[in-house]
Amino acid sequence: MNDRVCICDLKNHIDAEVTLSGWVYRNRPGGKVLFLVVRDGTGLCQCIVEKGKIDEELFGQLKRLGQESSLRITGLVRTEERSAGGVELGVTGAEIVNVSEDYPITPKAHGVDFLLKHRHLHLRSQRQWCIGKVRHTVIDAVRRFFNDDGFTLIDTPIFTGAVGEGEQTLFEVDYFGSPLYLAQTGQLYLESAAMSYGKVYCFGPTFRAEKSKTRRHLTEFWMVEPEVAYAGLDELLELGENFVTSIVKAVLKENRSELETLDADIAALEKIEAPFVRLTYSEVVEILTGEQTVKFMADQLGGFEAEKETIETRIAELEKPQQGLKKWQQEKNAKELVELQGELSELNIRIENNPKHAQLAADFRWGKDLGGSDETIISLMHNKPVFVTHYPGEVKAFYMKHDRSNEKVVENFDLLAPLGFGEIIGGSVREDDYDVLLDKIKALGYNPDDYQWYLDLRKYGSVPHGGFGLGIERTVAWITGEKHIRQCIAFPRMRDKIHI
Ligand code: 4AD
Ligand code: MG
Repeated sequence: MNDRVCICDLKNHIDAEVTLSGWVYRNRPGGKVLFLVVRDGTGLCQCIVEKGKIDEELFGQLKRLGQESSLRITGLVRTEERSAGGVELGVTGAEIVNVSEDYPITPKAHGVDFLLKHRHLHLRSQRQWCIGKVRHTVIDAVRRFFNDDGFTLIDTPIFTGAVGEGEQTLFEVDYFGSPLYLAQTGQLYLESAAMSYGKVYCFGPTFRAEKSKTRRHLTEFWMVEPEVAYAGLDELLELGENFVTSIVKAVLKENRSELETLDADIAALEKIEAPFVRLTYSEVVEILTGEQTVKFMADQLGGFEAEKETIETRIAELEKPQQGLKKWQQEKNAKELVELQGELSELNIRIENNPKHAQLAADFRWGKDLGGSDETIISLMHNKPVFVTHYPGEVKAFYMKHDRSNEKVVENFDLLAPLGFGEIIGGSVREDDYDVLLDKIKALGYNPDDYQWYLDLRKYGSVPHGGFGLGIERTVAWITGEKHIRQCIAFPRMRDKIHI
């Protein structure tokens, strides 16, 4: 039998002759044997080409075949415990589809800018491929969770007339001569749909003119937002923890090998179970300004310094003359060296930041919004996600409901992912009183006419309700252990130049 099959399916074709359609991921030519690693979009497969077993001329062509050349390759599937998928291909024939020469992304390490400029090709790298697979599962799990739980999907508009999350991050567009904004959230529209369907969600691209360049901010990202009529804070927290747990479980089930390749912290992910930690903002202020944080930051610094020493020792080893080493070993070492140098410079930044962040935490005063470093400290202190609830109303969006037992705070929550990753969810109970909401809109200087339809919801059958938004890229970054969320979307958009 000579069937076209996928690499991910090869283990079901042991001893059969199959044809793979793919690209050369790596080509390690020897005199008599070629080790050709082929990828086909579903995985990698080592293909062994032995001289004498295939046409002489074809052997020569395959030997010279550059990285990312495309080909159909035929052979016998054999069990091989040492290979990634447990199989390899004993090649009997091949058809070269396109010869690729001088592929720009070589196995050596490249800089971030270079890779962003070559994103159209970099998507083929194993790391990006694994992240894309995890993202796919996350999105599938998101939809499944809400669809199975009686939520109705509502697609909310991208052109919007009202400020959703604060005017500082609005993208204004010229809509036939009048200004409109790109959606910062679908929430306000979703609230209206919740009054029709009860439980709804929207899921789409979201735009924010984020001025700061951080590893947590994109200008275009994907957000999923549920909204539930008659829900209070406790119910929303429960929904959030069940939701996040179901996403993590799905990835652990579907993408274990991708997580392994990415060196994600699988043991930590396996511990993600409801209930999550719940802290109020006021409790967080106490932690940040207390002894616990002083000690935590000092320990952290000690850890960083020890890690720095280990890395420096290894770098010194790798910088020694490489004579006598095989070429592939030299290349491997060169790659490790570049990676370690990258890690070292990041570590140096962390060492430099540690006292600054410790000072920021010590100086934190009730009433300020939590900064990125404060979130990181709190999330690093826990190995489970942490809900922080009841922030001061002044630092949060206008639509959040004031706690009637303490007017200074709102009934909101952020969910901080563990491992120092920071906020992945923001949500709240919504203000449902017409007069209170109108006063807030006016106090912020927004035009009440723009919000008349939103105020109407508080006039005709107003009910307690609320919801939250989860950022897909931040969730993927946390789960995969990727440091920068730009790697968690195929074509990232950030404040600085858009490369492609
Ligand atoms: O906390 P945020 O701003 O909440 C809202 O937009 C609410 N309207 C949601 C709701 O209640 N329906 O954003 C929610 C989440 C954040 O926790 C974060 O994960 C993600 O969206 N997010 C970003 N992700 C990437 N880049 C950015 N610039 C982001 N801003 C927010
Ligand atoms: Mg937020």
